[in-house]
This record gives sequence, C-alpha cells and structure tokens, in this order.
Amino acid sequence: MMKSRTEIAQVLSEPQLNDTVTVMGWVRAFRSNRFIALNDGSTIKNLQIVVDPDTWDGELLKKLQFHSCIGVTGTIVESQGSGQAIELAAESLEIFGEIDPEAYPVKPARQTMELLRQKAHFRMRTNTFSAVFRIRHALAFAIHKYHNDNGFYYLHTPIITGSDAEGAGEMFHVTTFEPNKAPLNEKGEIDWHEDFFGGPTNLTVSGQLQAEIGAHALGKVYTFGPTFRAENSNTSRHLAEFWMIEPEVAFCDLEGDMDLAEDFVKYLLSYVLEHCSDDLEFLDKRIQDLEKNRKKEERRPMPLLETLRFVIDNEFERIPYGEAIKLLRNSKPYKKKRFEYPVEWGKDLQAEHERWLVEKKFKKPVIVYDYPKGIKSFYMRLNEDGETVAAMDVLFPGIGEVIGGSQREERYDVLLERVKEFGIPEDDLWWYLELRQFGGAPTAGFGLGFERMMLFITGMKNIRDVIPFPRTPKSADF
Ligand code: 4AD
Ligand code: MG
Repeated sequence: MMKSRTEIAQVLSEPQLNDTVTVMGWVRAFRSNRFIALNDGSTIKNLQIVVDPDTWDGELLKKLQFHSCIGVTGTIVESQGSGQAIELAAESLEIFGEIDPEAYPVKPARQTMELLRQKAHFRMRTNTFSAVFRIRHALAFAIHKYHNDNGFYYLHTPIITGSDAEGAGEMFHVTTFEPNKAPLNEKGEIDWHEDFFGGPTNLTVSGQLQAEIGAHALGKVYTFGPTFRAENSNTSRHLAEFWMIEPEVAFCDLEGDMDLAEDFVKYLLSYVLEHCSDDLEFLDKRIQDLEKNRKKEERRPMPLLETLRFVIDNEFERIPYGEAIKLLRNSKPYKKKRFEYPVEWGKDLQAEHERWLVEKKFKKPVIVYDYPKGIKSFYMRLNEDGETVAAMDVLFPGIGEVIGGSQREERYDVLLERVKEFGIPEDDLWWYLELRQFGGAPTAGFGLGFERMMLFITGMKNIRDVIPFPRTPKSADF
C-alpha cells in the first residue's frame, strides 16, 4: 500500500517538530551529496531534506537527479542551516521515477520559454510555470466566488453552437462529415441536413447571446468557459482557444456595466494578492532579475506587485471614443507620424493607440466607451446620436484590451434594423429577436479574457505561457 503523504505546504506552514512524515515530489536540487530540495507542487517553496552520505547507499544517492520523482520518510527537525527554519532528517527514501540527465530536455539552468513550450509536459515542474498555474487556479476560483457572493448564477452555455451571428471572428466548423466525402444536394453544395445536428455547427466564439437568455429570467448570470476563434493572429495576445468570463445583467445600463467591470477586476487582483503572495513575489523577483540587464525602455515602468496594488487603488479613467480620438490626434507620436495605423473617427483603435492612452497619457487602466456603430457588433445599443453604440473596452497597461462589453439593444425595431444592416439572416437569430418581442429587459454585460488577465497578473509576456496547453495557428500539441 502507498504510504500516506503529507503535503510540503503543510509541513512548512505548520511544522510539528519531531514528527515523522512522508513527503513525495520532484527533486529540485541535490547539493553536497547531502541536501535535497524537494517540491511537490503544493507551494513554490521547497522542503530541505538531509541524507547522510556516509551511511546511505551511494548508488541510491546517484539517482537523485534534477526532477527525479521520490518519496522520503523522515523526522521534522530544526534546521542547522540558515536558509530555512526546519528540515527533514531522512530515514528512508524511495525512487518513483528516475531521470537520465543527459536525455532529459529540461535543465536546472534558466530555459528559454520557447523550449519549455515545446516541452509542455514537463514545464509545470519549473518554478515559473508552477507559480503561474497555481495562480490560474486561484483566479478561476475567485471568479466564481465573486459572482456567487454577488448573486450571479453560473450558466453553462454551449460549446457547440448553431448560431454564428456574434460576428466576433472566424469560427471552427463542427461536423462528422469526412473531408471530401460530405453528401451533396442537387445544387452540388454540402447537404448539412445530413450532418449530425441536421445543420451547420461551430465551436462557440462567445456565450453572450445565450447568457442573455439567462439574464432574461435569472436576472444576473455569468458564463465561464472555453471559446474558440479561428483568426490567424499569431501574436503574444491571441489564442485560438481561450477562456472567457461573461457576466450578463438585467436592468443594467452601460454605466452599471463599467462599474461592474471595474469592481470585478479590482476584486480579482485583491484576491490573488491575498491568496497567491508567495507565487506573486517569486514572479515579481524573477522579472526584476531578468530586467537587470535590460535598457530602461525595455523594463516595466513599475514592479509587478506594485502594479497590481496601483490598479486596485486608482479609479479607471473613463473616456468616450470621440475624446480618445481627439487626444490621440494631439499626441506626440501622431504628430511625429510614429503611429503605424491611421487615427480617424470611425476607425478602430489599434494596440499602439490603446497603449499610448493607457501607458503614456493616463498611466492607469482606461475604459473607452461609445464607439462608432460601424466598428462594433449588431447587438450593441444605439445611442441617441444615431452614430455611436453603448460599447466599452477596458484597456490595461502592457496588454491593451482585457474586457469588451456593452449595453444590449433591447428595442425590437432598432435591433431588427441593425440585424438587416449587418446582413445577418433573421432566421439565424429568431430566438434572440423573440427575446425582445416577449418580456424583453434592458441588459448589459461584458467579456473578460481570462488569459489576458493572467498575463497582467503574472507579468508573463506571452499568452502561450499562461494557459497549460496553448492552441495557436499550426500548433495543437498535447
Ligand atoms: O471583445 P470580445 O470579442 O467580446 C465578446 O466576445 C463579447 N461577446 C463579450 C460580451 O459582451 N459578453 O472578447 C472579449 C475579451 C477581449 O476583451 C479579450 O480580453 C479576450 O476576450 N479575447 C481574447 N483572448 C485571447 N485570445 C483571443 N483570440 C481573444 N479574443 C478576445
Ligand atoms: Mg473586443
């Protein structure tokens, strides 16, 4: 029978001197043929284990390589060394999984992120990635807690959907047809009636439209699930499969939506600061070490922990899109023609413009609202001016857009007009339209990109490094 183990987090946080315990994990270091640093994933901290090279089997000790998997039974004692309060005096040791250091691709010295991405089955054993994924867990938990504490219901919206009207990006088709063997109709087109669902289906790009159904009965709901976009954006901010949190609230307008977004984000930051301090401190220090050799322009304007606290303590700047355009056209980079993309009313803000607003102009998160109707989705509420819609984007330093949301068009006639303008077949949206015809309510909501938030919280540079198994163009390993 497997011995019952004690987690290292518990051994370190509530050490019981002279107790005999068994710990199990992966070797992080073995020094002087005597000191093992063991990590079991329960905390970023290692437990120091001491063996006596004079009495222990030398062949066994040779097997204590970087990342070999072991179990150790021993006594908790006060540490002789200065690095730790306690250590484990080993009595017996079992090797679960050996490592041939020549063949093992992960090395004790710092690795490139690219190599670790290719070895995603091993990368969680590194300090950096274990910290990131513990934080990811805590953040997911905090998201549920926030909504639960505030009276929202968690609504599971479908992953496979027959509606493709959101217009949020290219979709992945879901079919049981074999390529080139799909049945054809008289016109020679694929006969989707014959397919599994009796019609074309896709992986969802967003749970919003279904969440709106929920809000029209349960009042306040949220979705939190994977979403899929087949856009070919090979950037450090885009994934083909990412997770999104989408609250949807009845009897709420754009201002209420912005208030909710700001309160929610600040709660999440406070939660991780309180519950993930060891991991965050580790990441903060790691970034400061990495930046020592960099030029000032390439360093963060503020260390990681300070940034998180700063965002919690300061009100987000809120400006209408039209105002943002004016500011941008008066900016130094605009006048010196340093922006790559045009700045004109009616054109979407590009990352370079968003970053100027956030990082140079306001030096804090910015919510831009009331965007021109032509660059936003059909369901956003048309403003009195007939030109703009009640949309808002929350922009964060170093990241750009983390949240996109809006007040929804609840007026049936206006919505129908917008659907036509967008050239969306009414049949595709019959239920969405009926929601406004029968007992419709004013609603508002938004989508928070989970991995974008993770980037901000961890200070990681690439979105592929904050999701366990990234899916990007030409890459779906693991
Ligand atoms: O702005 P988006 O497209 O909004 C929606 O999907 C709405 N239905 C949300 C709503 O109102 N309920 O996406 C929302 C957020 C973005 O702000 C961004 O943080 C993230 O999702 N996002 C991505 N994250 C990673 N990879 C991608 N390809 C992303 N596309 C959007
Ligand atoms: Mg958006």
